[in-house]
Amino acid sequence: MAVRTTIRELKNQIGETVELRGWVYNIRSSGKLRFLLMRDGSGIVQVVWFKGNVSEEIFAKLDTLTQESSLIVTGKVKEDKRSPIGVELDGVDLQILQIAQDYPLGPKEHGPDFLLSNRHLWLRSQKPHAILRIRDRFVKAVRDFFDQDGFTLIDTPIFTPAACEGTSTLFETEYFGEKAYLSQSGQLYGEAAAMAFGKVYCFGPTFRAEKSKTRRHLTEFWMIEPEVAFNDLDDNMKLAERFLEYTVQYVLKECAQELAILGRDTTKLQNVKAPFPRVSYDEAIDILKRKGHQVSWGDDFGAPEESAVSEDFDRPIFIHRFPAQIKAFYMKHDPQNPKLALGCDCIAPEGYGEIIGGGQREEDIDVLKKRIHEHGLREEDFDWYLDLRKYGSVPHSGFGLGLERTISWICGLDHLREAAAFPRLIHRIKP
Ligand code: 4AD
Ligand code: MG
Repeated sequence: MAVRTTIRELKNQIGETVELRGWVYNIRSSGKLRFLLMRDGSGIVQVVWFKGNVSEEIFAKLDTLTQESSLIVTGKVKEDKRSPIGVELDGVDLQILQIAQDYPLGPKEHGPDFLLSNRHLWLRSQKPHAILRIRDRFVKAVRDFFDQDGFTLIDTPIFTPAACEGTSTLFETEYFGEKAYLSQSGQLYGEAAAMAFGKVYCFGPTFRAEKSKTRRHLTEFWMIEPEVAFNDLDDNMKLAERFLEYTVQYVLKECAQELAILGRDTTKLQNVKAPFPRVSYDEAIDILKRKGHQVSWGDDFGAPEESAVSEDFDRPIFIHRFPAQIKAFYMKHDPQNPKLALGCDCIAPEGYGEIIGGGQREEDIDVLKKRIHEHGLREEDFDWYLDLRKYGSVPHSGFGLGLERTISWICGLDHLREAAAFPRLIHRIKP
């Protein structure tokens, strides 16, 4: 009896006769030989069939196989130095489960719209497969990092009664006769949890009704948000750089094969080591002016500005202390200069822009109430949040890392939609 295995395991089974279950990636014939490229989700392996070695019936069945037909193959594992996985299989037996007809994705180039409409099938191709494996390993590194650092995972709600990140991107829904909004960020709940557990993080889907069609905006994306009691802005940047160093280095170590499939130049990622350079907003404005950008103090930065500021550095950078007027209501203002908010964004290199937004939170109840009013928000929506400043208020800070933006940078993608298995975009909700 052949043992059932997976392609990833084959390198440890040289000489054994094994059974693989999977799909046809490609099949090509040459005289008395058939070369079957088979995938099973864990990898791709070549199975070589020689007419003299198998029955006529099996050989005839091979010629009915089409791309993506499902099958069970028995074969003997052979070392093969030319193979990317170091082994190939000598085909012994074949059972066909289903013959796929007219699989729409071929080896030819397809346009992005066609591929996105067929995302449920496109996931089987090598590039999406590599990207989503990298995402999986990155998330493992995230969880390991926080576990090892004494954080508690606290899941925050998706249905929320109020805005965290401004009212312009809220998705509204009806909640038993009341209005509710899909969460833009778990932060406010993370702050409550930090007062209970000290060091917490949440990791879940967040939603923004982004009306702009850009390479770096999804309407649904995943965010990783740590929040720590007694951390100030500087502690927050130290946490963020340690976290990024750990997670990126882990992916580099674990996903060399996937990064190679994507053709990623990994030398740039090797530089992701703390400390990251810190550039104040004021310094960033000077840099931009020197480079001929039309900016004035108080402007928010978009992709071109972020790229121009970060391009002279070999690793991610922080921009910190932004004009308070462009930042959210909860940000603490700089005691040295009340026009500034104690926020920090982390900008990825190579033009990937902001991947982290965060900062120190306002802990004074009266100041916070004033801000809520200044931002046109209703105090009663935030009564519970204000309680955190009434009962043992402490300095605290945190940040949010956008998962898809980060994966898009690590993988070197042109558009962050490929960093999600089923991306939600302004004009796309299917499949
Ligand atoms: O800068 P943002 O809006 O910050 C917050 O939501 C804070 N409440 C986080 C916190 O301090 N706990 O968003 C954080 C990150 C951005 O840096 C970006 O990486 C990502 O979330 N992001 C998006 N990613 C994809 N599509 C969008 N529409 C995104 N909007 C933000
Ligand atoms: Mg931001």
